[in-house]
Amino acid sequence: KILILDFGSQVTQLIARRIREQQVYCELHPFDVGEAFIREFNPQGIILSGGPNSVYEAEEWRAPQVVFELGVPVLGICYGMQTMAQQLGGKVESSGKREFGYAEIRARGHSKLFQGIEDRKNAEGHGLLDVWMSHGDKVTGLPEGFRVIASNESCPIAAMADETRKFYAVQFHPEVTHTLKGKDMFARFVHDICACGHDWNMPDYVDEAIAKVRAQVGSEEVILGLSGGVDSSVVAALLHRAIGDQLTCVFVDNGLLRLNEAEQVMQTFARNLGVKVIHVDATAQFMGHLAGVSDPEQKRKIIGREFVEVFQAEAKKLPNAKWLAQGTIYPDVIESAGSKTKKAHTIKSHHNVGGLPETLKLKLLEPLRELFKDEVRELGLALGLPHEMVYRHPFPGPGLGVRILGEVKKEFADLLRRADAIFIDELRAADWYGKTSQAFAVFLPVKSVGVMGDGRTYEYVVALRAVQTQDFMTAHWAELPHALLGKVSNRIINEVRGINRVVYDISGKPPATIEWE
Ligand code: XMP
Repeated sequence: KILILDFGSQVTQLIARRIREQQVYCELHPFDVGEAFIREFNPQGIILSGGPNSVYEAEEWRAPQVVFELGVPVLGICYGMQTMAQQLGGKVESSGKREFGYAEIRARGHSKLFQGIEDRKNAEGHGLLDVWMSHGDKVTGLPEGFRVIASNESCPIAAMADETRKFYAVQFHPEVTHTLKGKDMFARFVHDICACGHDWNMPDYVDEAIAKVRAQVGSEEVILGLSGGVDSSVVAALLHRAIGDQLTCVFVDNGLLRLNEAEQVMQTFARNLGVKVIHVDATAQFMGHLAGVSDPEQKRKIIGREFVEVFQAEAKKLPNAKWLAQGTIYPDVIESAGSKTKKAHTIKSHHNVGGLPETLKLKLLEPLRELFKDEVRELGLALGLPHEMVYRHPFPGPGLGVRILGEVKKEFADLLRRADAIFIDELRAADWYGKTSQAFAVFLPVKSVGVMGDGRTYEYVVALRAVQTQDFMTAHWAELPHALLGKVSNRIINEVRGINRVVYDISGKPPATIEWE
């Protein structure tokens, strides 16, 4: 296993992602976790991440000296390279200007790190690599025992190595996909240099995770808020496998779910898997509190608050429950060294369960804490959840509450659910569902005129939204085929009485957001 020490770079998480991709287990911790922890962790290799500081300004931002004393390979990336150089007696200086973006470097000599890796050759037959640089400082003097293993004009020491001690360092970022051969470099490091095996795989992980849950909860009971989303569904399947009837799920129908969602959740979990699920239909309660409210943030607050109410009331009926399970995943919990003040244990706010563990005096069980989203999906499949459920688009906690503009009414939710289901059906049929990151219909509470048969209609409008994105921070509207849009529009207008107009949203994020509220 590999230990990654985080110096606060924006992309440190990607290092962990790249290591896991090599089927090697790794953990990411702040650079100052302490010597005892590092010894205890007993890594086969250590990676020092990038970070925003300058080694000559931030003196406390150093790798614990033990990193270089354990006798295990070390890979320094960007700031990690600079601090390695500084700590081992080399020299680091400001470049004068920031170097940011693609760079071509030339591999030099034979290093284990770049063995057999090149994007192309130059005229003299030297291997060239396309890498991603982002730095203001650079190493200008090698520490003793090191030699240059890659360089270019603006960065003569673009990578360095002391192959005897197995210390390697690169000024560029191999963890970002812009460094085309980054994946191969990590393979060299973890497999060839650190001698890690390929032993992080899903089937083994399933057994490990089950054993861990059993050890943690013993014979105590656990409650889980099951939403039908990917994370809570995978937690439900995992816990059911691990502790069977000690798990009780609470599924709250707030009246703002997608068409047949409650039905599907009950089918998948209660009937097919035999999970204990309490299905609470709280539609009337939610609609009652939402009546007359049209401010989006206000609506979100009400929906969140009512969820806590309902969930708490159910939980109180289970006095034996000692644990509250949550679908927190790795990106939610990684501590950022960037702030220096360690972030408190985060609870996913959009799960609307903030504050629950305290008031209910429950211990928190988070079996997905170590996993990235795609690993959660893989785990879901390994546990036998349907592909369709595991690869579902994200759905906001407040559900259709933020997709019905203005005041939420049950009548609007019913229309929207049907329109949305038609859109999703047709996307799946046309093989576009998987090519979009999120797609849904939005209800616009404005009426426009239409003709139907001999008469005029005066009915509501539905907007279709489909986006493509990596991280949901920015997004492009999906260029769906016109024929597909036409079919969806026809079906909605013909099948959903009350809607006579369908429009397609062609706004990017930014400046628009993905949701309409
Ligand atoms: P926006 O609309 O901000 O959405 O571009 C980005 C992503 O966040 C989701 N989203 C929410 N999820 N509670 C949630 O759980 C919310 O209140 C909420 N608002 C937006 C949105 O669906 C998209 O995936």
